[in-house]
Amino acid sequence: MWVTERLSASHDLDKFSCGTPVFDEWLRHAALPLSDSDQARTFVWSDQNKVIAFYTLVPHEIRRDSRTGKRTSSGAVAAPALFLSAMALDQRFQGKGLGGRLLVDAVARCIVALEKADAGVIVADAIDHDARAFYQHFGFTPLANAPFRLAMRARDARTNLTL
Ligand SMILES: CC(C)(COP(=O)(O)OP(=O)(O)OC[C@H]1O[C@@H](n2cnc3c(N)ncnc32)[C@H](O)[C@@H]1OP(=O)(O)O)[C@@H](O)C(=O)NCCC(=O)NCCS
Repeated sequence: MWVTERLSASHDLDKFSCGTPVFDEWLRHAALPLSDSDQARTFVWSDQNKVIAFYTLVPHEIRRDSRTGKRTSSGAVAAPALFLSAMALDQRFQGKGLGGRLLVDAVARCIVALEKADAGVIVADAIDHDARAFYQHFGFTPLANAPFRLAMRARDARTNLTL
């Protein structure tokens, strides 16, 4: 079981390699400044301070009609959401069930943050078809108007995804 910590300057990011270079670069160069300015909080798992996994959460809102593809009688109503904008696991640890645990860790953090918002939604962007299939495997649904953006109601996540 890995301990989740907020990314800090003391973490060693040099060896992190998830197989998708854009995420490696994001972690090394963008994650900490954005996290420090509270625009996008990044959380990590580390082994002797060397980061082996991370995810980034951004405050967000979602229009209900874009999730269902239907018009709502009240028009475009915004629901509070958290956006899982990036998530990756070092290649050395992939394929052993840890990616699923990492997702559940991220979702659990979203559920706590959205606790008082019954209509809260967790949104994730998939970088490619594999990532989309991964999120769908855990019950996320592609949005009608953005097939590589997926969502799950916080209350459904609470029921369906457990550590
Ligand atoms: C996506 C990622 C975190 C998955 O980690 P992983 O360790 O390979 O996944 P796991 O071994 O934990 O798999 C967990 C479950 O998801 C399933 N799964 C894994 N990859 C999948 C895929 N591409 N499509 C469908 N299901 C998938 C596994 O079969 C497993 O199912 P099970 O619990 O029923 O046995 C990892 O591959 C990664 O970091 N990739 C690079 C970055 C990336 O694509 N991030 C995704 C956000 S865009």
